[in-house]
Amino acid sequence: MRTYKIAAIPADGIGREVIEAGNEVLGVLAQRDGDLRFDITSFDWGSDHYKTHGEMMPENGLEQLKPFDAIYFGAVGAPDVPDHITLWGLRLPICQGFDQYANVRPTKIIPGVTSPLRGVEVGDLDWVIVRENSEGEYSGHGGRAHKGMPEEVGTEVSIFTRVGVTRIMRYAFQLAQSRPRKLLTVVTKSNAQRFGMVMWDEIAAEVAQDFPDVTWDKMLVDAMTVRMVKNPRSLDTIVATNLHADILSDLAGALAGSLGVAPTANIDPERRFPSMFEPIHGSAFDITGQGIANPVAAFWTASQMLEHLVEQDASTRLMRAVEKVCADGILTPDVGGTATTREVTDAVCKAIRGDNS
Ligand code: IPM
Ligand code: MG
Repeated sequence: MRTYKIAAIPADGIGREVIEAGNEVLGVLAQRDGDLRFDITSFDWGSDHYKTHGEMMPENGLEQLKPFDAIYFGAVGAPDVPDHITLWGLRLPICQGFDQYANVRPTKIIPGVTSPLRGVEVGDLDWVIVRENSEGEYSGHGGRAHKGMPEEVGTEVSIFTRVGVTRIMRYAFQLAQSRPRKLLTVVTKSNAQRFGMVMWDEIAAEVAQDFPDVTWDKMLVDAMTVRMVKNPRSLDTIVATNLHADILSDLAGALAGSLGVAPTANIDPERRFPSMFEPIHGSAFDITGQGIANPVAAFWTASQMLEHLVEQDASTRLMRAVEKVCADGILTPDVGGTATTREVTDAVCKAIRGDNS
């Protein structure tokens, strides 16, 4: 029996609803396989934990997570807790503490979901954004002085290290090489930001020499937004800094039809620590408890998790089931349907059970 220990952290809002759905689907995949088992432990960390204990997770949170094979994460954010507390109290400490430096965000148009771009259909938009996930604009370096005074200053320093940039660049080139088109676009803003970003460009050129079969080009981030909208077919794998890729991945999700379906994987490529898998969407308190959250992003990221665990068959089977259900029009309201989370989940479970390939 292949058994994987999964730490589920549903956290806030619809995070709980979609992770519950995802856990159920994992169970069905295990049954379907017969020789596969997920040993899922749920942690009740998040904003409620913060309100009762004054912290998003216990001090030894990372120690508790370390023995797991992977982390399945919902969403953080609550209307009555400041966003920087929820973020820096849970998700970022896990990403940074476990050195999950590669944030991988695939986007494609799922059958049944319509892109807002005219004439762009399934297959026309199939990208993977590789987001640097350990430094850059999210390094937490900065401060405030003279608080509340007219002369108050706030600094937010981006940190780019040769080690950090080289490793994400290698990861991106490798990923591009593994995809059929072997095409990589390196995004920076090296015209205006003339230190760290120029270093990115230089390191990209150095790393490229080890990947002669990968075709690559460079884009400035502002021009990149235009290219994504006007010429989506010209892109495949994309690598960018923490903040640039944060923004581009929202745009990518919107162009593919909905952020509700977009997944993300926070990966430690060296596998020293558990990697973490989550939907990109947030806690969505406006629809929490209504049973209409779109579970597709949580399923898709579970598929990424299975791929990371080298359970390729289960990973592919899950995505096939999701695509079938969406193509059949069983969609939640955010993607134009009327189905509930329950109905989409049941349909995906049924498709997995009935998948004989
Ligand atoms: C994302 C999100 C987060 C980020 C937010 C919640 C801080 O937008 O995963 O893209 O910026 O990293
Ligand atoms: Mg974002």
